[in-house]
Formats: sequence, structure tokens, C-alpha cells
Amino acid sequence: MSNIDTVLARIDSNLDASLSRLSDLLKIKSISTDPAFKADCRAAAEWLAAELNEIGIETRVRDTSGHPMVVGHKKSGKPGPHVLFYGHYDVQPVDPIALWNSDPFDPQIVTKADGTKMLVARGASDDKGQLMTFVEAARAFIQETGDLPIDVTILFEGEEESGSPSLHPFLEANKDELSCDLALVCDTGMWDANTPAISTMLRGMVGDEIIVRAASRDLHSGSYGGSAQNPNHIVASIIAGLHDENGRVTLPGFYDGVPEIPADIMENWNNLGFDVEEFLGEIGLKYPRGEKDRTPLEHLWARPTAEVNGMWGGYQGAGSKTVIPAEAHAKFTFRLVGDQDHEKVQESFRAYVRSKIPADCTVEFIAKEGSPATRLDTTIPAVAKGKKALKDEWGVDAALVGMGGSIPIVGDFKRMLGMDSLLIGFALEDDQIHSPNEKYNIKSFHKGIRSWARVLDELSRG
Ligand code: BES
Ligand code: MN
Ligand code: MN
Repeated sequence: MSNIDTVLARIDSNLDASLSRLSDLLKIKSISTDPAFKADCRAAAEWLAAELNEIGIETRVRDTSGHPMVVGHKKSGKPGPHVLFYGHYDVQPVDPIALWNSDPFDPQIVTKADGTKMLVARGASDDKGQLMTFVEAARAFIQETGDLPIDVTILFEGEEESGSPSLHPFLEANKDELSCDLALVCDTGMWDANTPAISTMLRGMVGDEIIVRAASRDLHSGSYGGSAQNPNHIVASIIAGLHDENGRVTLPGFYDGVPEIPADIMENWNNLGFDVEEFLGEIGLKYPRGEKDRTPLEHLWARPTAEVNGMWGGYQGAGSKTVIPAEAHAKFTFRLVGDQDHEKVQESFRAYVRSKIPADCTVEFIAKEGSPATRLDTTIPAVAKGKKALKDEWGVDAALVGMGGSIPIVGDFKRMLGMDSLLIGFALEDDQIHSPNEKYNIKSFHKGIRSWARVLDELSRG
């Protein structure tokens, strides 16, 4: 048997132990956005560092002004590319907790009616299950052959789900240590349950929160109604004016830098057989929204968006209360594509908001970290090698896809460290990431581990 076959056999026989290690990681409540879980985030970082050290990857937990990074190295100057593997150990909050069928931090193996086995827990898919596919592949390689086939650096972050605020300074301060030939990222999905994917486009993002203030206190809506400004109405009109009747965003300059998708890529996408009714049907919807003259996959992968993620103001309790609130709030995010400039989008948004604020009122902005969109040059050798490895494992060609979501670090890897990222992940559309009852199929985990072993092996071949 060649090396890779013995490594794959070891992955198969390790599977139960691999799953139990993943379960241990999933028990740690590493919710990055909520300060109450700061110690849990550190505990997850320490758990990972201990795990990596145990398998022979020299690793330390590194402090930042936010949650710590985990950085490990296994290098001996082997030929072939030196790769950096990235994943995030932080998870999204669990609310609404009442909709979970089991405790989000007490992982359960559940078998569906059709026999599919899955691990249910917050982070099972995004991103603890996915990052452990790489760790377990590395473990099997080292146990079986005494080493990894190429030099590897590992970077695990604990702030991805809250916009990665500590990332820039950390990359800047550790440029030499972290610059590699290629980044491998396991934080994306498959095309469908049987077809692996390499994501070649990720949307960028920029966000803003607004607080509109009017009177100096909440008012009686009879005594003042009709005379005093109502901030709820102002926020509503700001939101209503963001799109025109064709679904286009109205902000001046918003579409600057939004490219048309080249014909060959469009053709490729059109041949993927995307069924929008099935896609929306799974979430209880039917009719696609978005710009009228665009295809559904363009909406998801190649067009920018403006979304309101939260809005509140005034009385929210039981019954009614006749009040004009003193302030109203809304949270916005914009998904970006191509060369859209996140700073310009934010400036344009703020100018628009200010133009809608009456003379008597004020607006406060609370900025969120922005990141540009990224595109991968699909002619680089790593893409061909990734495709070969995935085909060997899954028996079908990998789809080259776009991704609607954002992974802020990918843009920074390119701009700050000059590194392309090969985005391969095993999440499925129905994994319910960020939602109640998040899960990862055992098959995703098992074949994900095997896929990474094959990718490492392929990359080591000249
Ligand atoms: N893993 C996701 C990104 C993703 C989502 C990739 C869906 C592929 C399919 C990542 O953890 C994520 O949720 N990113 C956030 C970033 C934000 C908080 C800055 C996102 O996209 O909302
Ligand atoms: Mn993720
Ligand atoms: Mn996420």
C-alpha cells in the first residue's frame, strides 16, 4: 500500500475516536460575540493547542486584544508548498434556545429517518467540525508516516463570527511567521450531499448600526402626536428607500466595482442545475427576491446586497402603549462583490442616512469591521490538485462555486500576506449553521478528513 492508502485506512479506524474528540471541543461554549463567554473562548483555544501539541504540531495560544489565536507549526523544510491551514473555533450565539431539540453544548449523535447520521451541537458544522477534519487528517498522517507530507502552519481564530477585529494587527505583527505559499480554509460547503466544491468567490461585507434620536424623552403619543418627530418612522423610511422597485440598491455609487460574470463562468453555473424552488422550498419559501433581471445564483454569489438584520424602537411589551419613542435603532449589513470598496459603500450609506434625518433629530453610527470580496484565480496549480484530490475521494468532479457568505480573513491573506486561499469545505445546505439544531453529517466529517489527507498528499507531489 502507498502512504496515502495507509493514512486513509487509519482515518477509517480512528473515526470513533475522532468523533469523540470533536464532541469534547463542541462542549466548550466559545461564543465570541458575548463577553460572558470570554473564558470559554480561551478554553477552546487551549484545548486546540493541547490537541495539536499532542499530535506533534508545535503550538501556542497567542494573546490578542480580543480572543486568542492558536498558531502551530510543523516544518522541516520539505519541498512542495508550505501551507497555512485556517479555521475558527468561535461559534454563534445559540438563541432562540427554545427551538433546540437538545442542549446546544451537549453534542448528540442523531439518526434521521433515512438513516443519515449526524452530530448535533452549536459549531458542529461552523466551524469546529470543519476545522477538526484537518486536525484529524494531520493526526492520521503523522501517526502513520511520522510526519506531514508538506510543511504546515496552523492558524485558528476565535473572532470570526464577530468580524475578526483582532486579525489585522495580528497578521501585521506576525507577517513573516504566517506568510506561506497557500492558505487552506475549511469553512465553506459542498455543492450538494454527493458533490464536493471549491469556492472561488466569497462575498465581502460591511456593516453599520444607526441610532436615530428625536425628543429628549419618550412622549405621550396623543399629547405630542402630529407635532413631535417619531424616530421609528424615520428609520422605517431609511430602510424603505434602500431598494427601488426592481430590487436594486439605491445608494449612489453602490454598484461601482460590481463586475459582470464572464460568460464561461455563467455557463458553468447554469450547468450546475440549481433548483431555486427546491432551495427556497426547504426554508418554507417559494418566490426569489432580488434584482429582477438576474439569475438566482447571481443573486447569491455575484450580486451585492443591503439587508436590515435588526430594528427596534418604542414599546415592545404585551398590550399597547401610546408612546412616541425618543430613539429608534437598526442594524445593517451589505454583502459586497468584485471590487466594491467597503469604505466607499459605508460613506455612501451614511450620507444617505444623514439626508433622511430631519433638522430636529440626530443620528449616531456604530461601525462594524468591513472586508472586501475575494476571487480565486482558478488557473493556479493548487486548484487542479484540489480537484484531483476531491475527485479521488468523492468519485465526481468538484464544482467551482461562489459563496454568499463572508470569511473576512481570506481577503487579508491575499492583501497582507500575498497568499491565495483554497476554500474547501464539507458543510451542507441543511446544516443549519447559525440556527437552532446545527448539525454536521458524520459522512461530511469522515470524508472531509479523508479529503484533506488526499489534498495534502496531492500538494506534496511536484
Ligand atoms: N462559515 C461562515 C461563512 C459561510 C457561510 C461560508 C455560508 C459558506 C456558506 C462564516 O463563519 C460566517 O458565518 N461568516 C460571517 C462573517 C461575518 C460575521 C463577518 C457571515 O458570513 O455572516
Ligand atoms: Mn464559519
Ligand atoms: Mn459562521
